[in-house]
Amino acid sequence: MKTHTFKALLLTICFGILAAASAFAQDAPPADVTCFESRKGASEVVKHDLKPGWPNVKCSPKTGAVLWWGDPFDGTVPMGDMPLLDKVPKGNAVVKPRSEHLPLLAMCGTACHNGKVPPLPLPTTKKPHPIPTMEGLLPDAKNLQHGRARLWCLNCHDVKQRNKLVDNFDDPISIDQPQLLCGKCHGDKLRDWRDGIHGKRIGEWASTGKKRWFTCTECHNPHNVQDGERNRGFIQIEPESPPQLTKGMKDAKHELMPPIAH
Ligand code: HEC
Ligand code: HEC
Ligand code: HEC
Repeated sequence: MKTHTFKALLLTICFGILAAASAFAQDAPPADVTCFESRKGASEVVKHDLKPGWPNVKCSPKTGAVLWWGDPFDGTVPMGDMPLLDKVPKGNAVVKPRSEHLPLLAMCGTACHNGKVPPLPLPTTKKPHPIPTMEGLLPDAKNLQHGRARLWCLNCHDVKQRNKLVDNFDDPISIDQPQLLCGKCHGDKLRDWRDGIHGKRIGEWASTGKKRWFTCTECHNPHNVQDGERNRGFIQIEPESPPQLTKGMKDAKHELMPPIAH
């Protein structure tokens, strides 16, 4: 009888501890996992569940890069008009906005450059000149690492609307759609990108299916393309380990089959 009571007591205590532990585990929020999609430091996503057990991304524990997307269109917006892209039905080309990664952008056209500050007239030349206020925000401003000293802020940023970029006709373009900015000088790359031989797309397989196009600035930092240390995010010295085997599969020996004659 005594041992019974003791056992029951022990069990109750154990269950109590277990229940408390699981309640604690449920209460404690899981630590945020952040990984990068393309350019390290400028394309980070926080891992979360799109639906229970279905994450938005899977991250590489080795490099911190995204290995897999749960929904390739998560957080995307339609791509701006692109010349000669008429084969792709409208809405099937989407991009991820850059704005969310640009902490200063909200201020550029409001607190600063709002038409009153700095005082008018607006600059009339695109020649490089010292701008001490910007040097704190853009460390390379004195020696801009793009275009071998032939480029300046206003080749890319709209003179009147500083939170916009500028195309080849001096029309403002959204900072979320930099392709026509870069394309005005790198026409060959714009064509390659349009034709799918530069950059990256994810989404549906068919060539005219819905796809997320990675925009130029998701991979290139426009302020430092000349800098040798740029794009560290691309550098990968070792391959990833092989993916997990499909459920029920013991090994991947079938892949060693002799090639099919043709
Ligand atoms: C080659 C084109 C180009 C040139 C030249 C250029 N920029 Fe930019 N700038 C951009 C683009 C494109 C973005 C958006 C970057 C992104 O999406 O990551 C940007 C973003 C910015 C931002 C916002 C950054 C943030 O983190 O919110 C500032 C500020 C800025 N540029 C200042 C300057 C200044 C000052 C100069 C001149 C010294 C300059 N830029 C020259 C293309 C350029
Ligand atoms: C106003 C013209 C102009 C614009 C706009 C422009 N670039 Fe450039 N870019 C240049 C020039 C000039 C060079 C230097 C070419 C050289 O040295 O041969 C260059 C070089 C580059 C390089 C190669 C860097 C190197 O030296 O290896 C990359 C990458 C690049 N640009 C990306 C971009 C991206 C991305 C954008 C849009 C955000 C952009 N450029 C917008 C003119 C431009
Ligand atoms: C998915 C990432 C990615 C996207 C998107 C991307 N690029 Fe690149 N690009 C690269 C890589 C990687 C290289 C080669 C490494 C380097 O020099 O930075 C490169 C090289 C370049 C070069 C230098 C080529 C040379 O001959 O030296 C230019 C210019 C350039 N890209 C422009 C663009 C423009 C313009 C766009 C958008 C229309 C774009 N890129 C979109 C990844 C990308």
